[in-house]
Amino acid sequence: MDTTFREIPNEFSIKELKHQKEYLIGGSLINWEGETTNVYSTISSTATYEPTLLGSIPNLGEKEAQNALNAALRAYDRGQGLWPTMKVEQRINCMEKFVKQMITKRDEIVKLLMWEIGKTLPDSEKEFDRTLDYIYDTIEEYKQMDRDSAKFEKNSGVYAHIRRGPLGVVLCLGPYNYPLNETFALLIPAIIMGNTTIFKPAKHGVLLLSPLLEAFQNSFPAGVVNIIYGRGRVLATPIMKTGKVDVLALIGNSKSANAIQANHPFKNRLRLVLGLEAKNPAIVLPDADLDLAISECITGATSFNGQRCTALKILYVHEHILDKFMKRFTEKVDALKFGNPWEKDVKLTPLPEPEKPAYIQELIDDALAKGAEIKNENGGKTTQNYIFPAVLYPVTKDMRVYEEEQFGPVIPVISFKNIQEPLDDMAASNYGQQVSVFGSDVKTLAPLIDTLVNLVCRVNLNSAAQRGPDVYPFTGRKDSAVATLSVHDALRSFSIRTFVASKDTEYNKAILNELLAKKSSNFISTDYIL
Ligand code: G3H
Repeated sequence: MDTTFREIPNEFSIKELKHQKEYLIGGSLINWEGETTNVYSTISSTATYEPTLLGSIPNLGEKEAQNALNAALRAYDRGQGLWPTMKVEQRINCMEKFVKQMITKRDEIVKLLMWEIGKTLPDSEKEFDRTLDYIYDTIEEYKQMDRDSAKFEKNSGVYAHIRRGPLGVVLCLGPYNYPLNETFALLIPAIIMGNTTIFKPAKHGVLLLSPLLEAFQNSFPAGVVNIIYGRGRVLATPIMKTGKVDVLALIGNSKSANAIQANHPFKNRLRLVLGLEAKNPAIVLPDADLDLAISECITGATSFNGQRCTALKILYVHEHILDKFMKRFTEKVDALKFGNPWEKDVKLTPLPEPEKPAYIQELIDDALAKGAEIKNENGGKTTQNYIFPAVLYPVTKDMRVYEEEQFGPVIPVISFKNIQEPLDDMAASNYGQQVSVFGSDVKTLAPLIDTLVNLVCRVNLNSAAQRGPDVYPFTGRKDSAVATLSVHDALRSFSIRTFVASKDTEYNKAILNELLAKKSSNFISTDYIL
């Protein structure tokens, strides 16, 4: 692992600190005079290692959390607010206004993504562009949904005009590994469906949202989007305790999701949209195309240093091909280039959590003490901000790395004789998001696929696990998710079916006709949004 310090190129160096002073509540950018928290990057700007100071963010307290909730409640106004009663087309116009401004912030946001969370330049650009596409696709999908509901149905003498309506106030908490994309994959559908929101950025990847604060402020009515900064527990706990949050939208881990929702006094009133942790396995069968399996397992286990909920976090390799697989796999892992995010061809980058290398080291030490070995030469080599991925074999069930979602650079490998072994492990696992299967014999694959689809929610045939394309359902079983996200499903997850019913009488027909002709209701409408 080449760890020699390389100068930060001028275009990527930090020229001035970003002190985020303002937070957004009730349509106002409020200046914060209180305590702040410094934001550091684990990337060093000097030859002697030192984290780089990027700026600071407000450290808001319970009072500001309560103010944000009150602003969201006022904007929703028990369903009577401007936003939840607005015509769909007008809500879409607001979103388009927002996205036009967002495009202009690409370079600034991409640079902050690299510094704040260490994501490579191509992946940071992809995160930004993918998020834009997500917003455009959401707008198109919502138009289609609206067109599909622009009608009356009639059954048993009752007319029905059925649409989807908002749920109320959404508390939105995103993850640090996709601080823009995954957060917006919650926030955008929640907003566009007519809900009002309180959004608290993740622990890392916070400053990159600053360039968007004004766009949020000027695109949506006051109180529709409230953005607060500080510690999750300090801010989310009092908000939830009021019982006034209708939806908890969180991408993170089940422990924090459970702790936050436990504060809500009326459990049945709280909707959950949760993307949680996973331990996605790869299963490499004896007849797999090894080159393909190895390259996909490398991508799956190491892209963004394994800090993806969809990452391959444990590899099951059939014993007949284990030696061949391990030799080529470990060589390829060792060949991965480590460096700063803007460096050419770099695949492994500094970890944004300062404590992560020590945690991964603990997992390695525990595995070694229980009989595993590090199979690659560079495995476990450490710097101040990195630990090179160790390929651990043989991994057994008593090891922490078998049980815990490592969310970082370490690759546990298990060999198997009978396919029932990984299937039993998956059935016993707390997680059920995705699996990758590598093989070609249809006789083996067919029954395997038929079982795997019941253990997880996406079976990747001869490819790494991933969320995208974002139009496909993203969900999981057991502790891996609650509700489904995709461009279409997210609009459903943040809304509820609600309708106007009327008996087929001349009296009602005259009223409905007049409502339609005068276009006086924002809900009852047979207009098509083109
Ligand atoms: O952290 C989980 C993300 O949803 C993963 O998305 O598979 O596109 O990297 P991805």
